[in-house]
Amino acid sequence: MTDWSDVLRALWLFLPAYVANMSPVLMAKAIPGWNAPIDGGRLHKDGRRVLGAGKTWRGLVGGAVLGGVTAVVLAYAAPPQGQPGLFAGYDFGFHGHTYQGPLHDGHQVPGSCPQDAFCDTLTWHAQPSAGWAVFLFGAIVGAMALVGDAVKSYFKRRRGKEGGAPWVPFDQLDFVVFGLAAMLLASPLLAHDWVFWALGNWMILATLLVLTPVLHLAVNGLGFLLGLKKVPW
Ligand code: CTP
Ligand code: MG
Repeated sequence: MTDWSDVLRALWLFLPAYVANMSPVLMAKAIPGWNAPIDGGRLHKDGRRVLGAGKTWRGLVGGAVLGGVTAVVLAYAAPPQGQPGLFAGYDFGFHGHTYQGPLHDGHQVPGSCPQDAFCDTLTWHAQPSAGWAVFLFGAIVGAMALVGDAVKSYFKRRRGKEGGAPWVPFDQLDFVVFGLAAMLLASPLLAHDWVFWALGNWMILATLLVLTPVLHLAVNGLGFLLGLKKVPW
């Protein structure tokens, strides 16, 4: 059954990556003087910059910090799992997390209890995620979102496209793919199986991959109108 509220839950879940992806532009306004490029100004053998002047350490650090802060804010704001509310349980496991049955093949069978959970035969209660772990999780997702952005810039430069030139859909999807990969990689930081519980829903994944490029273009258009971005993409 299609539950359209999952669209909103997907956006909530990925907010640390969205905020991280927007943060370099804000950081550039806040600290214009700290503009050391990640590639150190080096040129690739094709004569172009490896990444370009637009990929700075400032952007990467800003993305990590704001990604972490966003995750912590969401963890406090979401009601605990099982309580009423659109975002109940979407708290990165901060209020504890209950899950049922074997969720994925080869991982759990009824009767076998993971180390970090209290179990009866079908229902497992995972230990809640620690606040610092939620921050670190958001910071890793935020940093990886911008690593994806920089990896894209590497290939964009190799194709001869300058910074600021549009490259649809890679400009829009780079941070989604890396952000999702980061959530899987960093999942051991959070309550047992929470990430798989949150991502194990095709509506959530479809929303992130389909709606994100659309939203990305809309937000950048707004940033352009507000004078934050030089180009409307
Ligand atoms: N930015 C930054 N550090 C990053 C990423 C972005 O400082 N790691 C800032 C830069 O001022 C950049 C602006 O955010 O110009 C917009 O980011 P983006 O669109 O990703 O960069 P572009 O300059 O368009 O470069 P590219 O073509 O490689 O995407
Ligand atoms: Mg760009």
